Amino acid sequence: MLFSSSLIALVAAFPALVSAAPARFFGKRAAADVLVFKFADVLEQLESEFYKQALGKFKDNDFTTAGFSSSQVPIEQFLTIQEDESTHSTVLQAALRSFGEQPITSCKFKFDSALTDVATMAATARVVEAVGVGAYLGGATLITDPVLLDAAASILTVEARHQTILNILSSTGTAVPSAFDIALTPSEVLALAGPFIDGPCDLGIPANTPLSLTNTGIVGPGTKLSFSTSAITSSNDTSKFFCQMMLGGQFASIPLPFDNCVVPAGINGPVAIFITSDGQPLINNVRDRATTQLVAGPTMAFIDTKPQMLGQISRLNLAAPVQSSSTRTISPSEASSIIAGASSTSAAASPAATGSSGSEPAPSTGVNTASAPAVPGTPNTFTGKSSDGAITVNGWVGL
Ligand SMILES: *[C@@H]1O[C@H](CO)[C@@H](O)[C@H](O)[C@H]1NC(C)=O
Repeated sequence: MLFSSSLIALVAAFPALVSAAPARFFGKRAAADVLVFKFADVLEQLESEFYKQALGKFKDNDFTTAGFSSSQVPIEQFLTIQEDESTHSTVLQAALRSFGEQPITSCKFKFDSALTDVATMAATARVVEAVGVGAYLGGATLITDPVLLDAAASILTVEARHQTILNILSSTGTAVPSAFDIALTPSEVLALAGPFIDGPCDLGIPANTPLSLTNTGIVGPGTKLSFSTSAITSSNDTSKFFCQMMLGGQFASIPLPFDNCVVPAGINGPVAIFITSDGQPLINNVRDRATTQLVAGPTMAFIDTKPQMLGQISRLNLAAPVQSSSTRTISPSEASSIIAGASSTSAAASPAATGSSGSEPAPSTGVNTASAPAVPGTPNTFTGKSSDGAITVNGWVGL
């Protein structure tokens, strides 16, 4: 892999990777630190593989069918994110080796259910990044060496930026939906990542039983949630169970009866949802969270109640003509239509005007949408008002 600038920055954050570093940066580390790094690496592998498969599968028109005005907008972002995740994994593995430890490279991943279409993929990516943020936040409580904690934190901030980009690309999301994120324990992370893990992948950490929502369509305030989990069968009396909604920044989860788990008003952004066998709220603190009554979960849902203009921008047709009397920057294709219109009224027309075969020019009806006739070998140049006077074209040369 190439040493991208982000990799160099990360290596600087990981003194253990710099060959000239003092020997004390190498060698045996606390078991907890090694465990967190191994775990984080597997999560990075999962994320990297997810984006790689998505980018390999979807074509430009899959993105535009999903509502993006240009496939370039999401593809640019997914590519950058994929590179970050891959770099994180490379650096975490190098750090582990410098500690005399072997990274876990035997885990396989499957994303078929998440890669059915771009909308599903983008929604899944949002959850994947929320899990990444939660995993590093929760892992922070386990790391004993402050230098390694700082290095892990330098990854966390990047995962949080990915999360925001994906919130924006979702179109219904809020860029930064909450003043706080949700920390997750490794067992909780595994419950969320479990459905994507294909075959054995022993991280030495027990996974909570996965939980998934079975609601179809938009989930918002007032929606009654329904669940699927192997932990609940027809022999269980679910009337005694509770769903627990964990929000960032709240002291504890909101307990609601399992059979009437209705999303309350006032929620915006990610919610971690657990099922418990009693109604005691779960503490929003990975160290002190009681797990004895846990039945399954969490699953992660996004409740989008505050859509923002920013989310719409990637879906706008930016090439659409905007009526304005002020000078503005134009695209070559816009310019060519203006020139075609201008040629009908301007005697001092550019060479492009000679492309029309002497027929009577059509009356000007504002910005002409016809394209400028090309004259091979001669540039089209034009400076002046468009035919309707609405905008000023500054010396366009083209075709
Ligand atoms: C659900 O039912 C199964 C099978 O009877 C049982 O083993 C399990 O303990 C029950 N779960 C809870 C939380 O009561």
